[in-house]
Amino acid sequence: MMIQIPDVLTAEQLAHCRAVLDAAEWIDGNATSGHQAALAKNNLQLPQDGSAAREAGAIILAALQADPLFVSAALPKVILTPLFNRYGVGMGFGDHVDNSIRRDPVTGATLRTDLSITVFLSDPDDYDGGELVVEDAYGSHMVKLAAGSAILYPASSLHHVTEVTRGARTASFFWIQSLVRDDARRGLLLDLDVSIQRLSSALGPTDPSVLSLTGTYHNLLRMWAEV
Ligand code: NI
Repeated sequence: MMIQIPDVLTAEQLAHCRAVLDAAEWIDGNATSGHQAALAKNNLQLPQDGSAAREAGAIILAALQADPLFVSAALPKVILTPLFNRYGVGMGFGDHVDNSIRRDPVTGATLRTDLSITVFLSDPDDYDGGELVVEDAYGSHMVKLAAGSAILYPASSLHHVTEVTRGARTASFFWIQSLVRDDARRGLLLDLDVSIQRLSSALGPTDPSVLSLTGTYHNLLRMWAEV
């Protein structure tokens, strides 16, 4: 499933990240990619353990971990230290799949990439092209979100970034190992959680049907979570 997470960053957090990133020195994006991806990739990145990536990455991680939709949709177990990329005019990233395992050079953790996330950091009016295109069973999805918003999608999906033809597109991207590996199970838990939140607003958190469904949610999570 693909989930849009609107307004992960406040206007102040976004401005802070952009100021840090705009002052940083960007390098060839192929410094971090596997062999197959390197053939398709043409962009710029920040060194993952550099001070700019760490400062902006900490803001993004804190904002995401406080976002109820992200937590409910991703059920994160391990989150990679955020990476940053920039596509100028003529840059893009052809069709590829992401590596299944990543090692985090900052924390030393190794994680299984269940989910990919892109946090858009450029105003869509500031560039043409640069859409993230993700393929799934329902077809091809073009994603270009407001600055500060994010898209979460299965890391196993074939995807590409279309060539930028005007301006520049800056984004943060990284991977998440979920407590629940299976995408369909994660989707079911999200649907259930959203329904519980709605019922709870309408009937109150101690209504018997809210308590019963909450119990069901946690029993499913007990069955499926790898902790
Ligand atoms: Ni990718």
